[in-house]
Amino acid sequence: MNAPKLLHVVVACAENRVIGREGRLPWRIPEDVAQFHALTAGQTVVMGPLCYKGWPRARTEGRHPIVITRDRTVAQPGTDVVASLHDALVLAEKLPGAIMICGGERIYAESLALDRPMRLHLTLVHATLPGDRFFPDWRNGSWRELSRRESADENFRYSFIELEK
Ligand SMILES: NC(=O)c1ccc[n+]([C@@H]2O[C@H](COP(=O)([O-])OP(=O)(O)OC[C@H]3O[C@@H](n4cnc5c(N)ncnc54)[C@H](OP(=O)(O)O)[C@@H]3O)[C@@H](O)[C@H]2O)c1
Repeated sequence: MNAPKLLHVVVACAENRVIGREGRLPWRIPEDVAQFHALTAGQTVVMGPLCYKGWPRARTEGRHPIVITRDRTVAQPGTDVVASLHDALVLAEKLPGAIMICGGERIYAESLALDRPMRLHLTLVHATLPGDRFFPDWRNGSWRELSRRESADENFRYSFIELEK
């Protein structure tokens, strides 16, 4: 049997691990949006239904969305719907392209808890912000830093960090 594909987890999070507020991102960082689109183009993107509905480009640029939800009405041509992260990963393994985990909160938590090789593409926003969705505490994990690039715009300083375990 072939080894499972490397799992890619893509997230932007604040220093206090906030990733969302009232169904949206708590920031608008065009450089991060561009990086997110570049990373995920042509790949299998695994996410929850709120993330899917809030991301009009999920089905464009060769992305193949797999949405984890009990709501079957989300399914449409080019978008698969499954009931669990396990089912999403079984399906993604059979598709071409890398597996990119794109949130939200529970899908990130379940993914990081998996005992398998993964790469974390983290945009760390250097701010403490109010929010209602959080990324799990990745700092306790045994990650190896592959790369780091600092950047900023008029509102935020942020770091593009690649970690692997
Ligand atoms: N900063 C970032 O990088 C980033 C990335 C993604 C999202 N966000 C933010 O996070 C928020 C959206 O995320 P969210 O967590 O609220 O919503 P979500 O993950 O898109 O959707 C939550 C729903 O997903 C289904 N679900 C999630 N995990 C599941 C599992 N393991 N098994 C079965 N079903 C599962 C359930 O749907 P059913 O009840 O329909 O079964 C659940 O109600 C927004 O604020 C968004 O901006 C930020």
